[in-house]
Amino acid sequence: NRVVLAYSGGLDTSVIVPWLRENYGCEVVCFTADVGQGGGETTGLEEKAKASGASQLVIRDLKEEFVKDFIFPCLKAGAIYERKYLLGTSMARPVIAKAMVDVAHEVGADAVAHGCTGKGNDQVRFELTFCALDPSLKVVAPWREWDIKGREDAIDYAKKHNVPIPVTKKSIYSRDRNLWHLSHEGDILEDPANEPKEEMYLMSTSPEQAPDSPEYVDIAFEAGIPVTVNGRDLSPAALVAALNDLGGRHGIGRCDMVENRFVGMKSRGVYETPGGTILVAAARELEALCLDRETIAVKDALALKYAEIVYAGQWFCPLREGMDQFMNKVTETCTGTVRMKLYKGSATVASRTSPFSLYREDISSFEEGSGIYNQADAEGFIRLYGLPTRVRAMLRQKQ
Ligand code: ARG
Ligand code: SIN
Repeated sequence: NRVVLAYSGGLDTSVIVPWLRENYGCEVVCFTADVGQGGGETTGLEEKAKASGASQLVIRDLKEEFVKDFIFPCLKAGAIYERKYLLGTSMARPVIAKAMVDVAHEVGADAVAHGCTGKGNDQVRFELTFCALDPSLKVVAPWREWDIKGREDAIDYAKKHNVPIPVTKKSIYSRDRNLWHLSHEGDILEDPANEPKEEMYLMSTSPEQAPDSPEYVDIAFEAGIPVTVNGRDLSPAALVAALNDLGGRHGIGRCDMVENRFVGMKSRGVYETPGGTILVAAARELEALCLDRETIAVKDALALKYAEIVYAGQWFCPLREGMDQFMNKVTETCTGTVRMKLYKGSATVASRTSPFSLYREDISSFEEGSGIYNQADAEGFIRLYGLPTRVRAMLRQKQ
């Protein structure tokens, strides 16, 4: 028997390797995904995994798949969790877990393992993906089983099993980084009364330090999907990276929130999502131009549910797939260009154009226009629209 472990090279996952061998007597295949977490962690990672006792390390670059198949559908849907969270971690877990299932099949493993704690959302996202894609795989979650309670225990265990202790300095924050966002939790953030320290931020400068003059950026969309930045055709991953640079420089996309974890508790997290914040705002502007009122209303209602199920780990489910089909249909005409103005922490719209714009200057203008809209029609319209209001008022007068 053989297990595929989601491996980062940090202390926790390094200790999981000998622990799995000792407690399950299995061969351990380590798996590392590149979802844009950066840090050059992949150099020397194989030697490190083997030094911990792994038989091999498999590395996959998932960046393009992550953006194209996970981030862009959420962007198109307008999915935002609890009014603020752009779902960076929630979207990364299913793409990583899906690749782990593929690797398990390739190396003939019968089990998968992860280093998520038993108190968080991530365990749910990994395990629901595993069971949606291959219910026969066994799942091992050491944090829910072992007696290692903290860093000191982990170091002791590593020493006892001759596992080299990773030299990388452990940050005081619990962080999760990928191409879309960087999350910070833990330490002083655990008290929601504490303001985050400026040194904590890694993807963005503070709005105060951002340039004193604004910068404009043009984003072109095709059917709800961004395709160019300032006229340059970019791959999905390159497009998000380019907007992260721009947005980060202008202090855009910082978000401090208290959220409800799926497992029931509240938690406090701070997110940096510079490029994503610009994209979400731009996509909305195009929808406002190209979609009618009722479509936007239904789309927004579904977006809430979409965000909830993605947050809760239900990526691979018919409900999300069905909502994707709805989103694809209604955003067919969301093609055009949005110019955003970036300035000291804010991304505001400066211009929007689309061949499918429903906006008609000749109809909306204060100047007398085409004759399509006849002001005299409004009188009868208001009489009928106001009929229930009139009936209620008449009833009240009689009493
Ligand atoms: N609270 C966010 C979420 O559930 C971020 C979690 C970050 N995960 C982590 N392993 N540090 O999506
Ligand atoms: C964890 O507990 O592993 C990280 C936080 C989360 O999953 O929500």
